[in-house]
Amino acid sequence: MSTEIKPDWVEEAWKQALEKTLHNSVRIGAGFPHASQGGRYVLEEPYWWTAGFWPGQLWLLFNESRNDTLRTLAEQCEERLDDVLNEYVRLDHDLGFMWTLTSVASYKLLGNEISKVRAMKAANFLAARFNLKGSFIRAWNPWFEGEDNRGYAIIDCAMNMPLLFWASEVSGDPRYRHIAESHMDTVVKHFIRPDGSVYHIVRFDSETGEFIEGIGGQGYAADSAWSRGTAWAIYGLTLAYHHTDKLEYLYAAQKVAHFFLARLPEDHVPHWDFRAPLEERDFRDSSAGACAASGLLLLADKVGELEAPVYREPATKILESLYRNYGTWGNDAEEGMILHGTSNYPAGQNIDVPLIYGDFFYVEGLARLKDKGPFYWE
Ligand code: GLY
Repeated sequence: MSTEIKPDWVEEAWKQALEKTLHNSVRIGAGFPHASQGGRYVLEEPYWWTAGFWPGQLWLLFNESRNDTLRTLAEQCEERLDDVLNEYVRLDHDLGFMWTLTSVASYKLLGNEISKVRAMKAANFLAARFNLKGSFIRAWNPWFEGEDNRGYAIIDCAMNMPLLFWASEVSGDPRYRHIAESHMDTVVKHFIRPDGSVYHIVRFDSETGEFIEGIGGQGYAADSAWSRGTAWAIYGLTLAYHHTDKLEYLYAAQKVAHFFLARLPEDHVPHWDFRAPLEERDFRDSSAGACAASGLLLLADKVGELEAPVYREPATKILESLYRNYGTWGNDAEEGMILHGTSNYPAGQNIDVPLIYGDFFYVEGLARLKDKGPFYWE
């Protein structure tokens, strides 16, 4: 918990976020927004990896406002995910993103037993994706005939590990934590490069577990530096340290954080890839900024008083810039809260648009500045 003084713009920013969310809740309801196109969030099927962010945002804002509309919609979203859990076939590594921000949130805030059972089921499916030889949680499934991604692991999955840490805490069974630690050990060993940049995808031999190669994925190239992947690493490693006290995770989080912070442009909001060639670097990814900011605020709480400002000050600057330069306050023609996110540049998908995870992490970052937990990943 931080003892820092809250910056004076934060309460106004929180009020605007609450107003915008209440306004959006009328049309979006218990839907699953991902990217805003032409001012309206496109609603995805419940199995899509982003399904947890809107309910997660509703829970963050409910936590202080106690507004029943927000709670009811978050609970309805969680119920809608039951079919995804029961049907099984669409589940992948993103069980953590989806059920941490719905069922774990509901259990932490309201103690709902049914939510605990849902999150435990999700944790069991997630744990079952562990490749014992390679010590990694497998990413994705073969989505088309002949696709072989059995040996793929991705940096994003660091953010799924809190579901396993949580499962061990509530069940008293250490197996989930063991798996999460093994996966995070693999992240430290194979994903983080000597300069603090990270691979998006690493391919292992799924039979022997041997490292084969790093792959560019949503970044510009294998050896470039996708900014959201860098943010996933900062936050995921910090959370792993939070849950285990293992200093390797703290040091790795700091190393990646220093890489990230040293490459921010003047307005503190990252380009989509820090190492894309200049002519392709134009677009920002505000969601990477928001996610990193929330992770950096947790990191600041984990280091001593002397070091805390190294992370807390830039995190606050990122959030303030998102509020002042990227926010859509008072503009009801745009549902997205934070402009200029980039979901997948190489695939040409959702470039320079608001993204629901940008909105979520922005609100979570504000909640951290307000010291208004609980935070569901912890
Ligand atoms: N987990 C996918 C992404 O960050 O876009």
